[in-house]
Amino acid sequence: MGCCFQYNRAAGEALHSIVSSRFNRQPLPPSISMLLAYNNHCHRPFCSTRIAASAKQQKQLTSPDLVALEYADLNLTHQVSQELGHVRIRQHVNPLAASFSIPPPVPDWNQVFRDSTLPLMVDIGSGSGRFLLWLAKRNADSRNYLGLEIRQKLVNRAEFWVKELALRNIHFMFANATVSFQQLVSSYPGPLMLVSILCPDPHFKTRHHKRRVVQRPLVDSIVNNLVPGGQVFLQSDVPEVAMDMRNQFDSESDVLQHIDAIDPRVQCDMEGWLLSNPFGIRTEREIHAEFEGAKIYRRMYWKRI
Ligand SMILES: C[S@@+](CC[C@H](N)C(=O)[O-])C[C@H]1O[C@@H](n2cnc3c(N)ncnc32)[C@H](O)[C@@H]1O
Repeated sequence: MGCCFQYNRAAGEALHSIVSSRFNRQPLPPSISMLLAYNNHCHRPFCSTRIAASAKQQKQLTSPDLVALEYADLNLTHQVSQELGHVRIRQHVNPLAASFSIPPPVPDWNQVFRDSTLPLMVDIGSGSGRFLLWLAKRNADSRNYLGLEIRQKLVNRAEFWVKELALRNIHFMFANATVSFQQLVSSYPGPLMLVSILCPDPHFKTRHHKRRVVQRPLVDSIVNNLVPGGQVFLQSDVPEVAMDMRNQFDSESDVLQHIDAIDPRVQCDMEGWLLSNPFGIRTEREIHAEFEGAKIYRRMYWKRI
């Protein structure tokens, strides 16, 4: 992926605060001071990949620092309060466990959204929720956002941030998407415009592939509920997971088209993966993976009219 140009003054300030806490009055490495000087003088966008390259070279900034930078303009509170509990990120949960088989009640959409007739984007496996919060803040009057996440603590913290930002167009739910997606989206009053599945848990072992979130019933449900012209965005840093998702959505070619067939400005590599992130904001997993030098495999589909 190329540079991300959404950085602004808030990101610059966040960089300053990260750097001062990390180096605590010690001399800064030359690449970091140059970056700060550049940002101070120009107040112009700077490049996350350049920071990542510096950070990696210097072993000074970490990938969580880069997440903080990417989302600096959200100004989220990072102290997790006692009632939320410590948010410990375990690698995978087993979505086939009995405890995840009970669907949560469908919410009253008029209670959770200011206008429940707006087009809806659903992010499956929304993780921390920052990606969806960033989008919701930018499209506060035109779109609703629903994050489905199987880890309750992540949902609690994301909902805490929703309140902190006073957003009325976003909602996070503790839900196993495999069990709940159909019931939730079919009850939503407005059109389902976009579904994203971003860096889903890979469940590497063959006997665990059935735990992967993208399975035939979910694909059918997405395809059937999307409004004509609606979109599906998939990505993964794990080639076989990306390929598994791609094969399942490519097989719906009578209903879905890949976006480069419709919009000639969208470019793909020789194997048909998108060359860049169409959202202009990276998810956390994406930032961590790119920091480690991984490629992100992306596909975006459009439902035929
Ligand atoms: C690797 S993380 C990626 C999070 C985020 N999308 C990102 O790119 O940073 C995958 C997320 O999907 C969640 N998840 C896994 N299976 C799920 C399921 N069946 N329903 C809802 N969420 C699920 C996990 O708890 C985890 O937060």
